[in-house]
Amino acid sequence: MMLAAEPVWASSAEPLAALHARCFDAGWSAREIGSLLNLPGCIGLACRVDGKYAALALFRQALDEAELLTLATDPAYRRRGLADILLTAGETRLFDQGVARIFLEVSQNNPGAAALYQRAGYAEVARRKGYYRDGSDARVLEKWLRKDGQTGP
Ligand SMILES: CC(C)(COP(=O)(O)OP(=O)(O)OC[C@H]1O[C@@H](n2cnc3c(N)ncnc32)[C@H](O)[C@@H]1OP(=O)(O)O)[C@@H](O)C(=O)NCCC(=O)NCCS
Repeated sequence: MMLAAEPVWASSAEPLAALHARCFDAGWSAREIGSLLNLPGCIGLACRVDGKYAALALFRQALDEAELLTLATDPAYRRRGLADILLTAGETRLFDQGVARIFLEVSQNNPGAAALYQRAGYAEVARRKGYYRDGSDARVLEKWLRKDGQTGP
């Protein structure tokens, strides 16, 4: 299976929203995903398996910082490295575009995602108490891509 990250745009919002809904209890609508992809600085990357979207990452860059807005892999295609491919591809592109640091939020009740981010070099810098609908805290994680002229990811 040949897996690679490809850029996605608002024109693919419908199938990307269908994928998002397979990954989250409260998935984002096609309108929401389309709006995000149309925002300045927003980068969408996806992996396809057999032509169908199987994983999605959305980032938003503001000057030399970026946020990972969402990362999701279809339950049928997990633990095959898709999220890792998208995260690395996004970091590489953001690094090339001058980003020094990436932030993201992850629930304290999401050990799978926490393991993924820890392995990728993200570290907790803050907590947002009761941030999610289920009352769980958000852990704010960051990763430095460049510090004092260091090399990229
Ligand atoms: C979290 C999520 C994006 C991971 O996607 P994935 O494509 O399965 O992740 P990868 O295959 O790239 O995993 C890479 C590594 O991360 C870690 N990891 C990923 N999922 C894990 C899990 N459920 N439990 C433990 N470790 C996990 C492992 O170290 C894994 O490497 P390994 O399979 O060689 O052990 C996916 O489970 C998902 O969509 N979950 C629901 C949505 C979500 O929680 N998104 C993150 C919100 S912040």
